[in-house]
Amino acid sequence: MSRKIEDRFSEKLKKSNEILERAKKALLSPVATGPFRAPKGVAFIKKASGSKLIDFDGNEYVDVTMGYGTLILGHGHPVVVEAAERAIRNGTVYDIAHENEVRLAELMVDAIPCAERVAFANSGTEATMHAMKVARARTGKDKIAKFEGGYHGVHDYAQVSSIFSVGSGEEEAPLSVADTRGIPQAAVDQVITLAYNRPESLERIRKHKDELAAVIIEPVPSILPIDMGDFLKELREVTRECGVLLIFDEVISGFRLSYGGAQAHFGVTPDMATYGKIIGGGFPVGAIAGSVDALQPLITSGNFFQDIAEKCAIVGTFSGNPVTTSVGASVLEYLRDHPETYDYIDGQASRIKREMRKFAVENEFEFQLIGLSSWFVSHFCWGAPKSPRDLVSPEGWLKGTAFGNYMRYHGVYLPDLHTVFMSAAHTEKDVDKIIDVMKTSLIEIKEDGVL
Ligand SMILES: Cc1ncc(COP(=O)(O)O)c(C=O)c1O
Repeated sequence: MSRKIEDRFSEKLKKSNEILERAKKALLSPVATGPFRAPKGVAFIKKASGSKLIDFDGNEYVDVTMGYGTLILGHGHPVVVEAAERAIRNGTVYDIAHENEVRLAELMVDAIPCAERVAFANSGTEATMHAMKVARARTGKDKIAKFEGGYHGVHDYAQVSSIFSVGSGEEEAPLSVADTRGIPQAAVDQVITLAYNRPESLERIRKHKDELAAVIIEPVPSILPIDMGDFLKELREVTRECGVLLIFDEVISGFRLSYGGAQAHFGVTPDMATYGKIIGGGFPVGAIAGSVDALQPLITSGNFFQDIAEKCAIVGTFSGNPVTTSVGASVLEYLRDHPETYDYIDGQASRIKREMRKFAVENEFEFQLIGLSSWFVSHFCWGAPKSPRDLVSPEGWLKGTAFGNYMRYHGVYLPDLHTVFMSAAHTEKDVDKIIDVMKTSLIEIKEDGVL
């Protein structure tokens, strides 16, 4: 076996390694995406442009993460830079009404089927947290149903049976389990965990309808980005019949699966939807959108004391700030006016999936890329996985992490969570490179005995 890939990669990262030593004395983790990082092989990025990242040692990577799906136009797109510069010159935060926020909200109301009104926050986590709170306030019920393997951020009600704790209880009726220490059992007890694509889930909603405020679902699960067929429609019908609000978490799918997101793509309209990523154009953002009826608890009466008593407060110093909303609005306008962007990025993702499928079959690699539109995940398995349980295993995780390491060594930045998001900045040449590097990485992983 050749030397470990982390060691080989580390040799290319001399300056990054020096920064890593500093980071260890000041930071808990050198990456915002979490503490689960290898102590070696961390490239510190100095700058990014278009589809490329450049680290402090001058290594160049094709970025296939794009801010975990945020940068649909790529790094430093002129639309983003101009909007940000223009906004910043006029001040960065007012906490007073301004027009940029209205502009972004108008674009969202026009694009999103369920959106009659919008409220802003600063992250996808805040958005799902607010949406759950609003649902409780609206219905007078406390419990939230979510799906096993579904990711909704890192607040207490989201970190239950998400991608990090798949597999407790019966497959058709999973148990709710805290993903991490520090989540109160009282919060876990308020969450009912359902299984994707199972009739039993619909039955469980009926059974618990008197305690359920809402069902939240990623309409395309980020762990397993597949089309769930009629399941979303059935979920819509059952939640309506039961007086339970339906929330689509469109933090990834919003403005990616199509301009109107998953709800426009599948023709299923939830009561509320949550947003992040693309709508901030690369600046921190979150939003909830929904019908006036569902968002009643956020609609002020104009009387402060009545609102305090009867409404639901979801304020935030930076929520809807003028820079984020100006940049986000400019990106949405661009996407609205350039619908061909979606054809292009979806086509690039399809090409990668097609060529890699052929390669994996020909070479008998148990490997596949699963995804919809311009986003996909790599999984080390064969067949068609139906549930997150088919995918989550320590062995699969190790192979996935190794795959990321080989890809990065060869100049394509695939993150540890091995999710790929294509952008308008990826050229045909970048796509050739991504395919080449995926093939080389699989061959080397096998030679090195990891696969
Ligand atoms: C579907 C979904 N919901 C919520 C979140 C949380 O968003 P944020 O990381 O902005 O808090 C994410 C983040 O990736 C996500 O993919």
